[in-house]
Amino acid sequence: MMGGTASESAYRILMGVLESRTGQTLSPNRIWRIEMSLKPVMQRHGIVDLDALVAALVTSTSRQLLDDTVDAMLNNETFFYREHSVFDDIAKTALEQLRVINADKRRITIWHCGVSTGQEAYSMAMLFAEQEARWAGWQIDIVGTDVSYHAISRARVGLYSQFEIQRGLPVQRMVRWFDQTEGGWLAKADLRRRIDFSVQNMLTDRPPLAGPADLIFCRNLLLYFSLPMRQKAFARLRMVAAPQSFLVLGAGETVLGQTDQYVASPRLRGLYEPADQQVRRVAAA
Ligand SMILES: C[S@@+](CC[C@H](N)C(=O)[O-])C[C@H]1O[C@@H](n2cnc3c(N)ncnc32)[C@H](O)[C@@H]1O
Repeated sequence: MMGGTASESAYRILMGVLESRTGQTLSPNRIWRIEMSLKPVMQRHGIVDLDALVAALVTSTSRQLLDDTVDAMLNNETFFYREHSVFDDIAKTALEQLRVINADKRRITIWHCGVSTGQEAYSMAMLFAEQEARWAGWQIDIVGTDVSYHAISRARVGLYSQFEIQRGLPVQRMVRWFDQTEGGWLAKADLRRRIDFSVQNMLTDRPPLAGPADLIFCRNLLLYFSLPMRQKAFARLRMVAAPQSFLVLGAGETVLGQTDQYVASPRLRGLYEPADQQVRRVAAA
């Protein structure tokens, strides 16, 4: 028995559906929780158990059931200023470098790949909003994408529960950038207008960016890909990255032994740069 009460083939089919739709594989502790995660979906669709859910997925043409099932198996864990020193470092170093690199066009494009319910993109938007004068005359495009339509609908609305708003967000920022409403804490319009959110599978879709990405966040997503998927993912990130750009990974993630598309930045700790950017720099030196 892989996880709980259902047949082994039911678990295998569900894991196969998740992997083919998102590239994600389930770690043993998540397989164990699959039944609990899918309970609300089964209730909503009037399905009695996991075997019945799999049977419905195989026979029904309901796109909604498939989307809901995949969504419920994804790990959407996120919070504001997650690994907050990364944001401090980016504000102090990467953005300063990008100011110099992009001085002519005065435009910076930031892509949050696997943005979940939006906290990571709102964290960056607040940094820019708080430095309005410094970035006057600059166009800052912030794009957040995720394969989960449920997460992206939440990100677009920008409404967070008391628990979510307190995770990582200092009180001053909470009251400055969010309004307390009956339904929770709502991001102010001035913050929401700074970000474009859309549903995208990063392994197959091209992100809706106006130009090459100068700063890409892809944190705590590659972790759940198999090595071949991870290599594909890095190649796709590189495809839309500006020649001189930075990639931010999660604390437990690295490019070492995973890809030859990116290398650790020699300038900025914890960030990565396209490998060919390094080659050009060495050649120019
Ligand atoms: C654990 S969350 C991390 C959120 C945020 N980046 C952070 O570090 O706080 C991972 C997110 O990646 C998304 N994801 C998984 N596979 C994806 C894919 N193939 N394309 C786009 N997003 C994906 C999941 O839906 C989930 O919201």
